[in-house]
Amino acid sequence: MRKKIVAANWKMNMTQSEATRFISTFLLEVGESRDVEIVLVPPFTAIATVNAALENAQHVKVGAQNMHWERSGAFTGEISPAMLRDLFVRYVVLGHSERRILFGETDEIVNRKVRAAHEATLRPILCVGESLEQRERGEVEQVLSTQLRGSLAGLGAKELQETVIAYEPVWAIGTGKTATAEQAQEAHAFVRRVLGEISDEATAEKIRIQYGGSVKPDNARTLMSQPDIDGALVGGASLDPRSFAQIVQGAGEK
Ligand code: PGA
Repeated sequence: MRKKIVAANWKMNMTQSEATRFISTFLLEVGESRDVEIVLVPPFTAIATVNAALENAQHVKVGAQNMHWERSGAFTGEISPAMLRDLFVRYVVLGHSERRILFGETDEIVNRKVRAAHEATLRPILCVGESLEQRERGEVEQVLSTQLRGSLAGLGAKELQETVIAYEPVWAIGTGKTATAEQAQEAHAFVRRVLGEISDEATAEKIRIQYGGSVKPDNARTLMSQPDIDGALVGGASLDPRSFAQIVQGAGEK
Protein backbone atom coordinates (compact mmCIF):
# COMPACT_ATOMS: atom_id res chain seq x y z
CA MET A 1 0.00 0.00 0.00
CA ARG A 2 1.52 3.31 -1.06
CA LYS A 3 1.17 6.11 1.50
CA LYS A 4 -0.27 9.23 -0.12
CA ILE A 5 2.04 12.23 -0.31
CA VAL A 6 0.76 15.78 -0.67
CA ALA A 7 3.24 18.60 -1.21
CA ALA A 8 2.85 22.38 -1.18
CA ASN A 9 4.96 23.97 -3.91
CA TRP A 10 5.03 27.61 -2.87
CA LYS A 11 7.14 28.63 -5.89
CA MET A 12 8.46 32.22 -5.57
CA ASN A 13 6.00 33.13 -2.82
CA MET A 14 6.03 33.47 0.98
CA THR A 15 8.26 35.66 3.11
CA GLN A 16 9.39 34.30 6.47
CA SER A 17 6.56 35.95 8.38
CA GLU A 18 3.96 34.77 5.84
CA ALA A 19 5.32 31.23 6.16
CA THR A 20 5.08 31.33 9.96
CA ARG A 21 1.50 32.56 9.80
CA PHE A 22 0.62 29.90 7.22
CA ILE A 23 1.95 27.11 9.45
CA SER A 24 0.11 28.14 12.59
CA THR A 25 -3.23 28.14 10.75
CA PHE A 26 -2.42 25.04 8.70
CA LEU A 27 -1.54 22.88 11.72
CA LEU A 28 -4.81 23.79 13.44
CA GLU A 29 -6.84 23.06 10.31
CA VAL A 30 -5.20 19.83 9.22
CA GLY A 31 -5.61 17.97 12.50
CA GLU A 32 -3.72 14.96 13.82
CA SER A 33 -4.06 12.33 11.10
CA ARG A 34 -0.83 10.62 10.06
CA ASP A 35 -2.32 8.73 7.08
CA VAL A 36 -0.95 11.20 4.56
CA GLU A 37 2.64 12.36 4.22
CA ILE A 38 2.72 16.16 4.12
CA VAL A 39 5.60 18.14 2.60
CA LEU A 40 5.98 21.92 2.58
CA VAL A 41 8.24 23.22 -0.18
CA PRO A 42 9.10 26.85 0.57
CA PRO A 43 11.56 29.09 -1.27
CA PHE A 44 15.15 28.62 0.05
CA THR A 45 14.91 31.84 2.05
CA ALA A 46 12.05 30.53 4.22
CA ILE A 47 13.33 26.98 4.87
CA ALA A 48 14.94 27.71 8.25
CA THR A 49 11.86 29.61 9.39
CA VAL A 50 9.57 26.78 8.29
CA ASN A 51 11.71 24.29 10.26
CA ALA A 52 11.43 26.44 13.37
CA ALA A 53 7.65 26.79 12.98
CA LEU A 54 7.33 22.99 12.56
CA GLU A 55 9.28 22.22 15.72
CA ASN A 56 6.28 20.52 17.34
CA ALA A 57 4.98 19.04 14.10
CA GLN A 58 7.79 16.72 13.05
CA HIS A 59 5.41 14.71 10.86
CA VAL A 60 5.31 17.59 8.38
CA LYS A 61 8.41 17.39 6.19
CA VAL A 62 10.28 20.08 4.35
CA GLY A 63 11.38 20.15 0.72
CA ALA A 64 13.27 22.49 -1.59
CA GLN A 65 12.26 23.62 -5.07
CA ASN A 66 15.56 23.09 -6.87
CA MET A 67 19.29 22.60 -6.33
CA HIS A 68 22.58 22.30 -8.20
CA TRP A 69 24.18 18.89 -8.74
CA GLU A 70 27.72 19.78 -7.62
CA ARG A 71 28.76 19.55 -3.97
CA SER A 72 30.35 23.01 -3.80
CA GLY A 73 32.38 25.43 -5.88
CA ALA A 74 32.20 28.43 -8.18
CA PHE A 75 28.49 28.37 -9.07
CA THR A 76 27.28 31.83 -8.12
CA GLY A 77 23.65 31.85 -7.06
CA GLU A 78 23.31 28.08 -6.70
CA ILE A 79 22.50 25.85 -3.71
CA SER A 80 24.12 22.43 -3.18
CA PRO A 81 22.59 19.15 -1.96
CA ALA A 82 24.74 19.33 1.20
CA MET A 83 23.40 22.81 1.97
CA LEU A 84 19.86 21.44 1.82
CA ARG A 85 20.77 18.52 4.09
CA ASP A 86 22.28 21.03 6.49
CA LEU A 87 18.80 22.63 6.67
CA PHE A 88 17.15 19.22 7.40
CA VAL A 89 15.50 19.19 3.99
CA ARG A 90 14.18 15.71 3.01
CA TYR A 91 12.68 16.24 -0.45
CA VAL A 92 13.71 18.26 -3.47
CA VAL A 93 11.47 19.09 -6.44
CA LEU A 94 13.45 18.57 -9.65
CA GLY A 95 12.61 19.14 -13.30
CA HIS A 96 9.51 21.24 -12.66
CA SER A 97 8.14 22.46 -15.99
CA GLU A 98 8.86 26.07 -14.97
CA ARG A 99 12.55 25.09 -14.56
CA ARG A 100 12.49 23.20 -17.85
CA ILE A 101 10.73 25.95 -19.84
CA LEU A 102 11.93 29.18 -18.20
CA PHE A 103 15.42 28.09 -17.16
CA GLY A 104 16.34 25.66 -19.92
CA GLU A 105 16.69 22.49 -17.85
CA THR A 106 17.05 19.41 -20.03
CA ASP A 107 16.52 15.77 -19.06
CA GLU A 108 20.29 15.45 -18.82
CA ILE A 109 20.55 18.31 -16.32
CA VAL A 110 17.58 16.97 -14.37
CA ASN A 111 19.22 13.52 -14.30
CA ARG A 112 22.43 14.95 -12.81
CA LYS A 113 20.34 16.61 -10.11
CA VAL A 114 18.29 13.47 -9.41
CA ARG A 115 21.45 11.40 -8.98
CA ALA A 116 23.09 14.07 -6.81
CA ALA A 117 19.97 14.19 -4.64
CA HIS A 118 20.14 10.45 -3.96
CA GLU A 119 23.85 10.67 -3.21
CA ALA A 120 23.01 13.23 -0.55
CA THR A 121 20.07 11.11 0.72
CA LEU A 122 17.55 13.69 -0.43
CA ARG A 123 14.41 12.30 -2.03
CA PRO A 124 13.65 13.80 -5.43
CA ILE A 125 10.14 14.74 -6.50
CA LEU A 126 10.69 14.44 -10.24
CA CYS A 127 8.22 16.39 -12.38
CA VAL A 128 7.21 15.25 -15.85
CA GLY A 129 4.37 16.33 -18.12
CA GLU A 130 3.34 17.28 -21.63
CA SER A 131 2.41 20.68 -23.10
CA LEU A 132 -0.97 21.34 -24.71
CA GLU A 133 0.56 21.18 -28.22
CA GLN A 134 2.14 17.83 -27.42
CA ARG A 135 -1.19 16.49 -26.11
CA GLU A 136 -3.02 17.71 -29.20
CA ARG A 137 -0.42 16.06 -31.45
CA GLY A 138 -0.97 12.75 -29.62
CA GLU A 139 2.54 12.75 -28.13
CA VAL A 140 1.73 12.33 -24.42
CA GLU A 141 3.21 8.86 -24.06
CA GLN A 142 6.31 9.67 -26.07
CA VAL A 143 7.00 12.83 -24.04
CA LEU A 144 6.48 11.10 -20.69
CA SER A 145 8.58 8.12 -21.67
CA THR A 146 11.48 10.32 -22.86
CA GLN A 147 11.38 12.52 -19.74
CA LEU A 148 11.23 9.53 -17.37
CA ARG A 149 13.97 7.52 -19.07
CA GLY A 150 16.24 10.58 -19.42
CA SER A 151 15.72 11.96 -15.93
CA LEU A 152 15.93 8.63 -14.10
CA ALA A 153 18.89 7.15 -16.02
CA GLY A 154 21.38 5.27 -13.87
CA LEU A 155 19.18 4.82 -10.78
CA GLY A 156 18.90 1.45 -9.03
CA ALA A 157 15.68 -0.07 -7.68
CA LYS A 158 16.19 1.31 -4.16
CA GLU A 159 16.73 4.84 -5.45
CA LEU A 160 13.72 4.57 -7.72
CA GLN A 161 11.54 3.51 -4.80
CA GLU A 162 12.72 6.57 -2.91
CA THR A 163 11.87 8.87 -5.79
CA VAL A 164 8.45 10.48 -6.07
CA ILE A 165 7.17 11.22 -9.57
CA ALA A 166 4.87 14.19 -10.14
CA TYR A 167 2.81 14.01 -13.33
CA GLU A 168 2.03 17.64 -14.13
CA PRO A 169 0.48 18.36 -17.52
CA VAL A 170 1.89 21.80 -18.37
CA TRP A 171 -1.50 22.99 -19.67
CA ALA A 172 -3.04 22.38 -16.24
CA ILE A 173 -0.47 24.30 -14.17
CA GLY A 174 -1.81 27.57 -12.81
CA THR A 175 -4.53 27.66 -15.46
CA GLY A 176 -7.52 26.37 -13.51
CA LYS A 177 -7.81 23.59 -16.13
CA THR A 178 -7.39 20.32 -14.29
CA ALA A 179 -6.95 17.07 -16.14
CA THR A 180 -10.06 14.96 -15.64
CA ALA A 181 -9.63 12.08 -13.23
CA GLU A 182 -9.71 9.71 -16.23
CA GLN A 183 -7.06 11.65 -18.17
CA ALA A 184 -4.85 11.79 -15.09
CA GLN A 185 -5.32 8.10 -14.24
CA GLU A 186 -4.50 7.11 -17.82
CA ALA A 187 -1.25 9.11 -17.72
CA HIS A 188 -0.35 7.77 -14.26
CA ALA A 189 -0.91 4.17 -15.33
CA PHE A 190 1.35 4.83 -18.32
CA VAL A 191 4.02 6.40 -16.06
CA ARG A 192 3.91 3.30 -13.85
CA ARG A 193 4.26 1.06 -16.90
CA VAL A 194 7.39 2.94 -18.00
CA LEU A 195 8.78 2.76 -14.45
CA GLY A 196 8.27 -1.01 -14.64
CA GLU A 197 10.24 -1.11 -17.89
CA ILE A 198 13.02 1.04 -16.43
CA SER A 199 13.25 -1.25 -13.42
CA ASP A 200 10.75 -4.05 -12.69
CA GLU A 201 7.05 -4.30 -11.91
CA ALA A 202 7.44 -4.83 -8.16
CA THR A 203 9.57 -1.69 -7.89
CA ALA A 204 7.15 0.32 -10.03
CA GLU A 205 4.27 -0.71 -7.73
CA LYS A 206 6.07 0.90 -4.80
CA ILE A 207 6.79 4.27 -6.45
CA ARG A 208 4.46 7.10 -5.55
CA ILE A 209 3.11 9.20 -8.41
CA GLN A 210 1.59 12.57 -7.57
CA TYR A 211 -0.73 14.53 -9.81
CA GLY A 212 -0.13 18.28 -10.18
CA GLY A 213 -1.93 21.05 -12.08
CA SER A 214 -4.74 23.16 -10.61
CA VAL A 215 -5.43 20.79 -7.72
CA LYS A 216 -8.05 22.43 -5.47
CA PRO A 217 -10.08 21.28 -2.45
CA ASP A 218 -13.04 20.45 -4.72
CA ASN A 219 -11.18 18.17 -7.15
CA ALA A 220 -8.48 16.71 -4.89
CA ARG A 221 -10.45 13.76 -3.53
CA THR A 222 -11.69 12.53 -6.93
CA LEU A 223 -8.20 12.75 -8.41
CA MET A 224 -6.50 11.03 -5.50
CA SER A 225 -9.04 8.21 -5.35
CA GLN A 226 -7.80 6.95 -8.73
CA PRO A 227 -5.80 3.74 -8.38
CA ASP A 228 -2.48 5.13 -9.65
CA ILE A 229 -2.70 8.65 -8.16
CA ASP A 230 -0.77 8.62 -4.90
CA GLY A 231 -0.96 12.25 -3.89
CA ALA A 232 -0.71 15.78 -5.22
CA LEU A 233 1.83 18.52 -5.89
CA VAL A 234 -0.11 21.69 -5.25
CA GLY A 235 0.88 25.19 -6.35
CA GLY A 236 -1.67 28.01 -6.15
CA ALA A 237 -4.07 26.34 -3.69
CA SER A 238 -1.19 25.56 -1.31
CA LEU A 239 -0.69 29.24 -0.54
CA ASP A 240 -3.89 29.24 1.49
CA PRO A 241 -3.53 27.16 4.68
CA ARG A 242 -7.22 26.20 4.78
CA SER A 243 -7.32 25.08 1.14
CA PHE A 244 -4.13 23.10 1.55
CA ALA A 245 -5.44 21.43 4.71
CA GLN A 246 -8.63 20.45 2.86
CA ILE A 247 -6.57 18.93 0.04
CA VAL A 248 -4.55 16.90 2.57
CA GLN A 249 -7.78 15.70 4.15
CA GLY A 250 -9.10 14.79 0.69
CA ALA A 251 -6.07 12.55 0.22
CA GLY A 252 -6.88 10.69 3.43
CA GLU A 253 -10.49 9.91 2.43
CA LYS A 254 -11.11 6.68 0.61
P1 PGA B 1 -0.84 24.82 -9.63
O1 PGA B 1 0.72 24.43 -9.72
O2 PGA B 1 -1.43 23.97 -8.53
O3 PGA B 1 -0.85 26.28 -9.28
O4 PGA B 1 -1.45 24.51 -10.95
C1 PGA B 1 1.16 23.10 -9.59
C2 PGA B 1 2.65 23.05 -9.75
O5 PGA B 1 3.21 23.79 -10.57
O6 PGA B 1 3.32 22.25 -9.06
